[in-house]
Amino acid sequence: MEGVIDAATRDLLTRSAGIDWTVTEFVRVVDTRLPQRVFLRHCPELHGGMPCTPGGAPVHLQLLGSDPAALAANALQALALGTRSLDLNFGCPAKLVNRHDGGASMLRDPRRLRAAVTAVHDAIGDTIPVTAKIRLGFADRRLALQCAHAAEDGGARQLVVHARTRNEGYRPPAHWEWIGRMRQRLNIPVVANGDIWTLADYWKARTLSGCQDVMLGRGALSDPDLAARIRHWQHTGACLPATQWARKAEVLLEYAALQRSTLSGKTVVARLKQWMNHMRPQDEQAAQCFQTLRRVTELDTFLAGLRESRSAAREAGARSA
Ligand SMILES: Cc1cc2nc3c(=O)[nH]c(=O)nc-3n(C[C@H](O)[C@H](O)[C@H](O)COP(=O)(O)O)c2cc1C
Repeated sequence: MEGVIDAATRDLLTRSAGIDWTVTEFVRVVDTRLPQRVFLRHCPELHGGMPCTPGGAPVHLQLLGSDPAALAANALQALALGTRSLDLNFGCPAKLVNRHDGGASMLRDPRRLRAAVTAVHDAIGDTIPVTAKIRLGFADRRLALQCAHAAEDGGARQLVVHARTRNEGYRPPAHWEWIGRMRQRLNIPVVANGDIWTLADYWKARTLSGCQDVMLGRGALSDPDLAARIRHWQHTGACLPATQWARKAEVLLEYAALQRSTLSGKTVVARLKQWMNHMRPQDEQAAQCFQTLRRVTELDTFLAGLRESRSAAREAGARSA
């Protein structure tokens, strides 16, 4: 997720079981071949040769663009750097991106979407998989199935579908049943995405879409243990209790520890606030902590406040146990 999930976040979210693979923030492709440093910035895991998180989850590199030739040239560049899978983003709803013909704007014309996937597939052959990420459409769902077919016909080996149109933005509900319609018509695996915040959402998304697999976005930020809780439920049929704020605060503190040697204190604080922002709608204590710290910009002061909040939550938890 652009601006939110970087290599440190991927590392933290894949330390426990549950997440099978992750995707980088999108690399924006316009009309040139980008220098290697751009790919390495988005996917520092490429430095290790085999792009995986320290916990062992493969990292797929995502490209966003509309020019088939430029996408193909950049796919080759990414391949040369060792990427093991290339994902093409046809779902981004950002106005600036769409105005320049990228992301979800490609859903207006399935032929162009297919040409983009084909160009990348032709360039890299079957050396590594090309996959695609789409929404249900741009303004409406009329072309949903055609877009899904276009991705498959172009050579995508997997399709992730965010169950909303571009114009629906992030507004609930997610139309998981529409993903089911795509799944029934395609021969490639389809992965359901959108609004999975809890175990109940997970089950509903799977039931309505019929998909074996789901992709977590904001839900994994809101509850860093959501994937592990889903996995536990899959294996045992038992529901682990909801993740406590103290544990979430711990993850945020670990994030700061990972990032402070490479980013400025202010940037780390900004990123911590962004992450907390995804936690607060589902967690009253996260919301309170966010409110207390929202004007703080100095890293050590922010971390002291976060530690205090974590300790208070732990003590309250011990008292009520
Ligand atoms: C801040 C933000 C950044 C995002 N960046 C990306 C991105 O770079 N690539 C991508 O495929 N999806 C991106 N998405 C979309 C998510 O991957 C996901 O499809 C969407 O949020 C719906 O799933 P969710 O309800 O689980 O979050 C982004 C979403 C948000 C909120």
